Amino acid sequence: MREILRAEHLKKYFATPFGPLHAVDDVTFSIKEGSTLGVVGESGCGKSTLGRTILQLHEPTDGKIFFREQEITGCNKSEWKDLRDEMQIIFQDPMSSLDPRMAVWDIIEEPLKIQKKMDKAQRAAKVKELMDTVGIARRIQYSYPHELDGGRRQRVGIARALALDPKFIVCDEPVSALDVSIQAQIINLLMDLQKEKGLSYMFITHDLSVVKYISNEIMVMYLGQVVEKAPSDELFGNPIHPYTKALLSAIPVPDVHIHRERIVLKGEITSPVNPKPGCRLAARCQYATERCSTPQQIVEVSPNHFVSCCRVNELWQ
Ligand SMILES: Nc1ncnc2c1ncn2[C@@H]1O[C@H](COP(=O)(O)OP(=O)(O)OP(=O)(O)O)[C@@H](O)[C@H]1O
Ligand SMILES: [Mg+2]
Repeated sequence: MREILRAEHLKKYFATPFGPLHAVDDVTFSIKEGSTLGVVGESGCGKSTLGRTILQLHEPTDGKIFFREQEITGCNKSEWKDLRDEMQIIFQDPMSSLDPRMAVWDIIEEPLKIQKKMDKAQRAAKVKELMDTVGIARRIQYSYPHELDGGRRQRVGIARALALDPKFIVCDEPVSALDVSIQAQIINLLMDLQKEKGLSYMFITHDLSVVKYISNEIMVMYLGQVVEKAPSDELFGNPIHPYTKALLSAIPVPDVHIHRERIVLKGEITSPVNPKPGCRLAARCQYATERCSTPQQIVEVSPNHFVSCCRVNELWQ
């Protein structure tokens, strides 16, 4: 499979009065065409910043981004204009991302109007097709976002994101605001669309159980850095980093006969502002030793399974 997106040593720092906030700090990954990379980690670890930096909604502080082998960091406005349509984003809360003063039809049609490639009749046909594709009834075309339930609202957000036939979509917590039963419907829709249209996703969530089925690979982030990355089955079957293990232990097990110890991380979360070199989890990690205060390397422990922990060899046994 060809690669659709690659980030190399990507960094995004925000200026604060106390020094630079390392929201994304040296992140490297690639996504194959037609596949999904799940990105997980607690609130504030930099997931949204990563997604937004990839889409050039934030300017990277350092590092490179490639879309289909073409470097997009530093590409000029007209080059970017063509690529931009192929990369879209779906947000967590369509209530705040969709314009409350626009009716469903106009929300979906707007990107087509801005693109100026279709006449009115072609746009109308496309909007109808998109409504069918995401499973919303034509009669809600006159409704406003606040008149819809969360699931329908998210379907409108998806229809809008699909309007320009993108190839790559950042899904930033697209189901986190929805009831569990609706979450499954939206995830199934996204998976069907992926198959049908060969889409590639970066699927961001703080909830590991949500990404299990949709992701081919999962990348776990902690305070701006990747601590572990592996194919989905491997990550769930053989988690190695203490942080990944803690995240996994928090997922409820459906079988009452299986007892799994919940790992609770104690201690202060390190500040992302001007962080010291070394593992950022160290202050909360039960395995921490002095070596953890030195810069950590990310190593491949088995094919395509990467871990950033100096104690990896001991923890892996
Ligand atoms: N525009 C900004 N200016 C300054 N700091 C920012 C900005 N956006 C994000 N941050 C900071 O960057 C860090 C990462 O934030 P980000 O929103 O990317 O995390 P997240 O993993 O998406 O969290 P959540 O799960 O809550 O959505 C946080 O410390 C946040 O406060
Ligand atoms: Mg976020």
